[in-house]
Amino acid sequence: MNTMLENDFRNASSRESSYTGEPLSVVGICLDDETWRFLNLFAGLTPSIRVRSRVASYRSDQDQDAILEQLGQPAPDICLLDFDTNRRAAAMMAERIHASVPGVAIFAVSSHNQPSAILEAMRCGCSEYLAKPIDREQLANAVVRIGSRRKEKRDQSHAQLLAFMGAKGGCGTTTMATQLGALLAGSFSRKALLLDLHPDFGDAALYLKLTKTRYHFFELLENTDRMDADFLESFLMRHSSGLELIPAPEGSVGTRDALPPGALANTLDFLRPRYEFILVDLPPALNEENLAVVRDCDQLYLVTVAEVSAVRNVVRQLEYFRSMDIPREKIRVVLNRHHKRNVLTAEQIEKVIEQKIFWRVPNHYPQVVKTISEGDPIAQLANSEVTRSLEQWAAEIGEKPGAETKKKEGGGLLGLWNR
Ligand SMILES: Nc1ncnc2c1ncn2[C@@H]1O[C@H](COP(=O)(O)OP(=O)(O)OP(=O)(O)O)[C@@H](O)[C@H]1O
Ligand SMILES: [Mg+2]
Repeated sequence: MNTMLENDFRNASSRESSYTGEPLSVVGICLDDETWRFLNLFAGLTPSIRVRSRVASYRSDQDQDAILEQLGQPAPDICLLDFDTNRRAAAMMAERIHASVPGVAIFAVSSHNQPSAILEAMRCGCSEYLAKPIDREQLANAVVRIGSRRKEKRDQSHAQLLAFMGAKGGCGTTTMATQLGALLAGSFSRKALLLDLHPDFGDAALYLKLTKTRYHFFELLENTDRMDADFLESFLMRHSSGLELIPAPEGSVGTRDALPPGALANTLDFLRPRYEFILVDLPPALNEENLAVVRDCDQLYLVTVAEVSAVRNVVRQLEYFRSMDIPREKIRVVLNRHHKRNVLTAEQIEKVIEQKIFWRVPNHYPQVVKTISEGDPIAQLANSEVTRSLEQWAAEIGEKPGAETKKKEGGGLLGLWNR
């Protein structure tokens, strides 16, 4: 690259450095050396992109998993795909990427710029066609287009994603998620959806007394390519509070490995613009699937009880999420079945987990069982401290500023239970 061109870059980059978004990650596929050098120089001088890697072959024979592995996880924002070495293989690779990870923008790069070549690239999923040698301005404009599309998507996807995971089984995770969801929808008129992500024996539908399930969440994940509003509708169950639910399977899912790659992320992307809150009832496991939800969520609630084994698991979970670079601020610990006479006090727990307990939900088994058996948390507001505590929690996250809520009269007990 000659000095004149570098100077040109430097002058231009002062304009592009006004870019304020997160850099878009770029992978180069079969780029010739000159284009590769150009791309790296471009990336070095503008904050808008970060070059992640260079893939040396088209490998269009690969399955979706292999493609994802080749591009790296999470998938890049942009692939710069050189068409010159083998146009047919490049076109097939573009099609593969487009089908497997539709969120990735593909820029075709080629020294042929006949209309038929451009059309061919567009047909197989490329959104830009950059003629060699790449024009810096053209690349910069294409990057800006992708950046603003990504920002638009983020702005649209406004549902807050709240994930719930127990420190271990039986801590009350489903009780929290179902009641909080019903209260957000019923008392605070929020459009809320609950997803039960238990592959085996999820309870959310049962706790809301929505027992006539037709399809479950994993069937939705298996069919993301058919996703539209009508298809989604066939999965939704509606609780009297207004809360919508996509239930877990009634038994065990046999086809777990067959889930298309990116299915969960794509499904959440589809759902987020349609709701204000999406609550996810997660099984207590530190696996890839849960991690994908946790990465995506706005808030993770770790539900524990005041038992040594559960609190020890919270410490392990916090350590695990720290090692996975999940920001600590988005993890909140909820102490369920709280009672002053618990063997472990809330203060001892806070010391061990090295953070404040976000919410303390009182222990009252008969009330919770009654709520579950009637399937209607809202109806229990007058006579269950547990439901009232959860209503305060729902108010904290869901009360619209200055809005009249459908809250029932509070009761002096509330202040006793929280914080
Ligand atoms: N605050 C509470 N006070 C008393 N009992 C409670 C409370 N919260 C939940 N329970 C009871 O604890 C039991 C377990 O609750 P729940 O099913 O919500 O837990 P979970 O963490 O979802 O369990 P699983 O691991 O089976 O999914 C239920 O019988 C429920 O009634
Ligand atoms: Mg549960």
